[in-house]
Amino acid sequence: MRSLKIGDILVKMPIVQGGMGVGISLSGLSSAVANEGGIGVISSAGIGLLYMNNCKDYINSSIDGLKEEIHKAREKSKKSHGVIGVNIMVALTNFSDMVKTAIKEKADIIFSGAGLPLNLPSFLTEDSKTKLAPIVSSARALKVIVEKWKRNYNYIPDLVVVEGPKAGGHLGYKENQLADTDHYNLESILVDVLKQVRIYETEFNIKIPVIAGGGIYTGEDMANIMELGADGVQLGTRFVTTKECDASDEFKNEYLRSKKKDIVIIKSPVGMPGRAIKNKFLEDVNLGLHKPKQCPYNCIKTCQMEKSPYCIMVALFNAYKGRMSQGYAFSGTNAWRATKIETIKEIFDSLKEGYEEYVTKKNLSLVKE
Ligand SMILES: Cc1cc2nc3c(=O)[nH]c(=O)nc-3n(C[C@H](O)[C@H](O)[C@H](O)COP(=O)(O)O)c2cc1C
Repeated sequence: MRSLKIGDILVKMPIVQGGMGVGISLSGLSSAVANEGGIGVISSAGIGLLYMNNCKDYINSSIDGLKEEIHKAREKSKKSHGVIGVNIMVALTNFSDMVKTAIKEKADIIFSGAGLPLNLPSFLTEDSKTKLAPIVSSARALKVIVEKWKRNYNYIPDLVVVEGPKAGGHLGYKENQLADTDHYNLESILVDVLKQVRIYETEFNIKIPVIAGGGIYTGEDMANIMELGADGVQLGTRFVTTKECDASDEFKNEYLRSKKKDIVIIKSPVGMPGRAIKNKFLEDVNLGLHKPKQCPYNCIKTCQMEKSPYCIMVALFNAYKGRMSQGYAFSGTNAWRATKIETIKEIFDSLKEGYEEYVTKKNLSLVKE
């Protein structure tokens, strides 16, 4: 399997572990992925809730929490010189705090989506080496970001992540687009994004690696999408049912118990559709049974508390903790495929094997032809 080069960073395996909040990808999962040669990513979403005991206010505990998770991930992946990134959603009200902290703590890469990260380069300091990777759902979104970055900061993305409609968590597509799989599928969106990226590569005489994610589960899926031109893949769902994933066992069990029909699209209070595993909490929401009594953290820019059926940060934090009656698990379309808890090493081995097998098989049949 070919490695991935992002400027001066060499990543042995072209596999990015997608950031997963609240608390699903912290130092445990990210360091394990980094140790296997991929890019481990800490999610900054709601991280303050996990660190509220240290200091009682959300803003400062978020900064402390992110710092601590970066330090822990670095410590656990020191020997392998693992690559550690941070995922920071544009929709977070503490977006700038999280970006500044990630840069100060020398995260290797910042991944940013759930909105357009138009001012992301403005936070870079003269001596910072942190790379910037926008997560996009269309070539148009990438163009808007890059034109702004060029104009205002003379900066070009170091890496681009294309997230297709099969991903978990919040999705950058409207509900009708999610239903229109002929037009909205990872393969065709990737091809569009690659065309746009090639224009910038020629203009600036640089290489911009493109990572594709959303519904990638096996080595064969990896090989297929890389054959279309992706330089690597981003996986979220596949990494949840692992020993190293930072979520509670109850959260992981939601994946293990789920059937294909349980993976549903929900209307998130964030104002975007999301994909999750149906449970009693979500059924009650549909019946109008939940209402937030207050907005404890003012954490999402686009969340309208008066109209929201529940506080999403609290619901996702509860799920992370294993209180599934008071929350739910986000997941990609493939969550139902997990049958057991594995280690990150086992998953990497299986991805490598599947990838190699597929590539060899294809070459063999080509030779025969
Ligand atoms: C439980 C869960 C939480 C997620 N949280 C975030 C997040 O906080 N920020 C983000 O940009 N993407 C988030 N995602 C998306 C993942 O980073 C990843 O891109 C996506 O899940 C890839 O698709 P896959 O799950 O089919 O592999 C989340 C996904 C899951 C399953």
